[in-house]
Amino acid sequence: MSAPALLFHLSDIHFGLEDNHALDWVRTEIVRLNPAAVAITGDLTMRARSREFDAARKWILSLDVPVTVEVGNHDMPYFNPFTRLFAPYAKFRGMEAVVEREIDLPGIAIVPLKTAARAQPRLNWSKGWVSGAALRKCLAAIDALPKGTKALVTAHHPLREVGTQGTALTRGGGRALAELARRDVLAVLSGHVHDAFDIVESTANGPVRMIGAGTLSKRTRSTPPSFNELRWDGTELTVTVRNLEQVPTPAMQIDDVPENALPPREPGDPVAPVGQVPRTDPPVH
Ligand SMILES: [Fe+2]
Ligand SMILES: [Fe+2]
Repeated sequence: MSAPALLFHLSDIHFGLEDNHALDWVRTEIVRLNPAAVAITGDLTMRARSREFDAARKWILSLDVPVTVEVGNHDMPYFNPFTRLFAPYAKFRGMEAVVEREIDLPGIAIVPLKTAARAQPRLNWSKGWVSGAALRKCLAAIDALPKGTKALVTAHHPLREVGTQGTALTRGGGRALAELARRDVLAVLSGHVHDAFDIVESTANGPVRMIGAGTLSKRTRSTPPSFNELRWDGTELTVTVRNLEQVPTPAMQIDDVPENALPPREPGDPVAPVGQVPRTDPPVH
């Protein structure tokens, strides 16, 4: 058998509040280990500012490997409700020029699933929402893969739907997981909660593995900055949570996906404008 395929799964870099020490180390590890791809599962920026996207673009272009990026809730305009509603992805789309969609890996394909929504019929827009259209697009991409190819689905929000609909982390997450369980999906990679995890979620159609990456920003939650090193040997996908403090992987992974994982507020964090995002529940992931 050939050498295992190596993938790096990064998330929540939050340029604007990025951890440059951690990012320099990640780039060194990318040079050293030369992964087949780097998948970044959203929240590239802090407030979708142009200078934050510029810094993200510069960092990604400094990597000599294929990179995929999903949109996170922080990658849409925060202060301007007009832009948020009518051109929410304009700045993020600028990233498409620097990322690869076709990742050439033996027997596996990276398939995106959009979970960040410009607006939702509930108060907290920072949470996830898998719309019918987003799910159909993802499933169609999986169904179009060559026979025998396994999918690694990349999303920003974990597909966890808990509590009542109003408090679910990701609306439509349960339905999406059940559909993914019918297909040859190796795992769903996500971010958003700023801690790593590797759990199996059961659905009516069988289990789905959900793998979360921590953050590479200063907005850590309960673990130091980290990224996931994924190895696929053709049979098994193994995850190592890499971090600068040499914390072993099991200690870096949380046991369950929290419904609401708020990192501590930073001094000087803006308070959301009234009428845009409720002040009682700021989107800080
Ligand atoms: Fe997020
Ligand atoms: Fe985040």
